[in-house]
Amino acid sequence: MLKLNLDFVYPFIEEHKILSMEKETLEQQEQLMSHRGAGKDFHGWLDLPGAHSKQFLNDLTSLGSEMRELVDTLVLVGIGGSYLGARAIFESLRDPFGLYRTQFPEVLYAGHHLAGDYLQELLDYLENRSFAVVVISKSGTTTEPAVAFRLLREQMIRRWGRRKTSERIIAITDTEKGALRKLSREEGYRSFAIPDDVGGRYSVLTPVGLVPLALGGIDIESLLDGADQMKGSSELLPFSDNPVLLYAAARNALYQYGKVVELMVSYHPKLHFFSEWWKQLFGESEGKDHKGIFPASADFTTDLHSLGQYIQDGKRILFETVISVRNPGSGPSIPEDQQDTDGMNYVANKSLQMVNQKAELGTILAHVDGGVPNVIVEIDKLNEKSLGSLIYFFEKSCAISGYLLGVNPFDQPGVEAYKKNMFALLEKPGFEAETRAIKKRLPKNLS
Ligand code: PA5
Repeated sequence: MLKLNLDFVYPFIEEHKILSMEKETLEQQEQLMSHRGAGKDFHGWLDLPGAHSKQFLNDLTSLGSEMRELVDTLVLVGIGGSYLGARAIFESLRDPFGLYRTQFPEVLYAGHHLAGDYLQELLDYLENRSFAVVVISKSGTTTEPAVAFRLLREQMIRRWGRRKTSERIIAITDTEKGALRKLSREEGYRSFAIPDDVGGRYSVLTPVGLVPLALGGIDIESLLDGADQMKGSSELLPFSDNPVLLYAAARNALYQYGKVVELMVSYHPKLHFFSEWWKQLFGESEGKDHKGIFPASADFTTDLHSLGQYIQDGKRILFETVISVRNPGSGPSIPEDQQDTDGMNYVANKSLQMVNQKAELGTILAHVDGGVPNVIVEIDKLNEKSLGSLIYFFEKSCAISGYLLGVNPFDQPGVEAYKKNMFALLEKPGFEAETRAIKKRLPKNLS
């Protein structure tokens, strides 16, 4: 079970100060649970862990087996909340080198950028693969995935013809609206609906995450179980033992104390994309009305050799949240060397994991000494269950934390600004006035 340890926050904010936030934190939880808080039409994710029927989960498992007969590669097309959750879990759980991936397809990603050369290289690689596409877009109109999907579809139709291409495409989109829903109907794609009351960054436990994960061999029932356990404990535990509520309270207390940047840290390269998912969750939920903690991330020990100096000794605006995996596989032990020319015999016969744990503890102590509070989120192992509990833990904390901050954690008005300019510059129909206005603003060398 997930544990929250605030021992390395207390040197900065005393325990009783965080505990004194009980009333206001419980009030915000009540706003959420009674669906009275801001964004109440987007609270559907709260009940997702127990919401899927056994039949639905079995169907996904069968679909996974069926697709694996047909393809060796899965291309997941989506951006932001429509792809980060699945990617976070795949990257956390699958071996990065594909050595043990015999019965499951390779998973590749598209639609999360607009870089032509990168996408061309993916398309070239796919020429020699038998692939299926899972295309995910709630609006069905987002530029990045729509463009990538059009290119992928063109290649597929050229290689396999229209009918067989349709068998290799799964669309996950709005129940009724949008171009992707229309296309799915016309082309007969297998499709799944994204519930209306769940926004992108809270959608990993809907078909948005569950379908690709089941196809890629992830045990989605255990993932949901882990989330369900966290849901249960977040509703039952008193404030002083409740990790969801304490994390929401502690980060708001740290924000008041001047810690305006939260660095999500892990000592495991497989968690890199989990941090990416977390950044989107908190960044889009809290960064509005000129408020909010800036969510950033670092992979340790790698980034101790790049960001370590700033964290230890730069401007004191940071706190860290460490995902600490207590018992990952130990990996190899370091061999003894008679000559000891490299001077490494002091760690001989120790497991690499044990060395990593000492690096983690040593870093936490050093950063705390340097003025950086550390929140520790402990899980036992990296598996479906622990990831499920982490997902629900962060989602619910994020919602409560946003309410404590006084923002609506379920909208994202700010992400439209760049799109409006991009559409104006691309002269999209309907944006004529914006096109005229933006052209006047452009410096000569950019028009
Ligand atoms: O969290 C969000 O709402 C966003 O990150 C969206 O998921 C992202 O912009 C993709 O949108 P869509 O699924 O409509 O293509």
